[in-house]
Amino acid sequence: MLPHKQIQIRLQAAVLAVLPDADVSVVLVRPCPEPKFGDYQSNALMALAKARKLNPRQLATDVLAKLDLADTCEKVEIAGAGFLNFRLKTAVLAENLAAAARGEHLFFDRAATPKTVVIDFSSPNVAKPMHVGHIRSTGIGDALQRTLRLLGHNVITDNHIGDWGTQFGKLLIGWKQALDRVALERDAIAELERLYKVINAECDANPARLEEAKAELVKLQAGDAENIAIWKEMIRLSQVQFDTIYGRLGVKFDHTYGESFYNPWLGAVVNDLLARGIARESEGAVGVFSDSSLPPKEDPFLVNRDGEWVADPALVRKSDGGFNYMTTDLATIDYRLKTWSPTEIVYVVDDRQSPHFKKLFLTFARWQGDAVKQVKLVHVGFGKILGDDGKPFKTRSGDTVKLGDLLDEATERALKIAAEKNAALPAGELNNIAKVIGLGAVKYADLLPNRQSDYIFSWDKMLALQGNTAPYLQYACARIASIRRKAPVAATASQPAAPIGLEAPEEAALAKHLLNFGLTLEAVAEEYRPNYLCNYLYELAGKFTSFYENCPVLKAEEPTRSSRLALCDLTARVLKKGLETLGIETVEQM
Ligand code: ARG
Repeated sequence: MLPHKQIQIRLQAAVLAVLPDADVSVVLVRPCPEPKFGDYQSNALMALAKARKLNPRQLATDVLAKLDLADTCEKVEIAGAGFLNFRLKTAVLAENLAAAARGEHLFFDRAATPKTVVIDFSSPNVAKPMHVGHIRSTGIGDALQRTLRLLGHNVITDNHIGDWGTQFGKLLIGWKQALDRVALERDAIAELERLYKVINAECDANPARLEEAKAELVKLQAGDAENIAIWKEMIRLSQVQFDTIYGRLGVKFDHTYGESFYNPWLGAVVNDLLARGIARESEGAVGVFSDSSLPPKEDPFLVNRDGEWVADPALVRKSDGGFNYMTTDLATIDYRLKTWSPTEIVYVVDDRQSPHFKKLFLTFARWQGDAVKQVKLVHVGFGKILGDDGKPFKTRSGDTVKLGDLLDEATERALKIAAEKNAALPAGELNNIAKVIGLGAVKYADLLPNRQSDYIFSWDKMLALQGNTAPYLQYACARIASIRRKAPVAATASQPAAPIGLEAPEEAALAKHLLNFGLTLEAVAEEYRPNYLCNYLYELAGKFTSFYENCPVLKAEEPTRSSRLALCDLTARVLKKGLETLGIETVEQM
């Protein structure tokens, strides 16, 4: 068990000894924000004391009297209004590193009680090219699924593609009347996009054309064989495009059910909502309205228009009998609960859909209150990618940036950098390095900001070899790999019993930071924030640099040399595993 867990368990026991009725699940031990005060800290006693109107420092003193950490920590200190500060014994730190060097752990524990988590992410719409915005849901979702799996949770990923909807009426007319087969062969998605634009414009100008599109859609919905066959072909062609992009990004899904999968249940969902009085008819459509259980400000079924609260229902059936995005999402939750009994369902979808998810979760709770008690429904939202001008990121000609083109450009730019640095490498190797650096840079730049904030897309910033970037971290990995190449095999960390010495302050600081890898992963999983891991790795690379600048490795005498090589090796392993958890590859040489 990692030392912070041990401290936490004993602290919880000590709290219970003093306050037998306390909820100790909130008694947590976290890295100390100020290393000069300690390695770990707990601020839980202050909240416990406040709730009971106790003096927090007195409570801390009482708890300390029951706390025995003599084998793990130096003297525990009470600070400020009632913080507890813990400092690990160097021997404990060294033993944890030695265990990691022996391959017993890599500074994280697998969850004692694994959760089952469904992650709904990426979810592009069929017959349209994936654009730059899709990197967000795809990258954040992938990093979260990797983190949760690493921690031993049971993860089910589902790409909820938009393969159903009114756009198919127009696409069907286009396919039947205006399809350019040669263009379809060359670039199917571009051709589908063209067809949609042409017919859409015609429909705008000519109501008869719009009626024609609606008629095609009705035929599709009724199962007309020809329309179904065309629709299936459009999905297949789109899937080929999606798969190419996912292949490049190294992203995989357990399922791609898509919206159309839920069609058979939609009628029953609406009927049930009507029968239970959760939905009602309004102007020919069916919707779920506010039940007045929330203050208007927090009620997603209300909007404020000119100072007045008016209904903003969740529509589940249109006046023409068609179903809505909401209806499909209700059926989807029902299906997921029945199929996988998850503890959590996580939707990685941009923040503009936040009202949709608020309505969805509340409607589902009103519909299946008991089922929903078992599961946490979470919308993991994120902001926009902006250009230099602060407006949504576009190409120079003002079009949306296609994701495929963006990845091409990332690789090309990285190739220039790699070629300048390593003119001597064979072309094949250079191309591979460029791919790893280019894709890594784009992914990392997207994961690094707090996910809810918008960020400005900058090639120069994300590809820089200095600063908080993927290339910087990849370069750190390559640098350590080169140190290991210079060290004779027998003296590397794989040698079992190498004792770890932590005399230099830079060694101890690096070691302590390594020990926080697991805590960081847990925080990422807890709050669905991969940026915590980015920042952890950046700090790790920084601590490694200070260590390497101040502590000779290859030139040191034994046993220091082996000990320091082990520190190098552990740092490389954590960096590599951390980047891999963010979906980012590394290379031995850069
Ligand atoms: N296809 C949708 C869109 O592009 C995203 C779907 C997200 N997932 C969901 N279950 N609603 O906006």
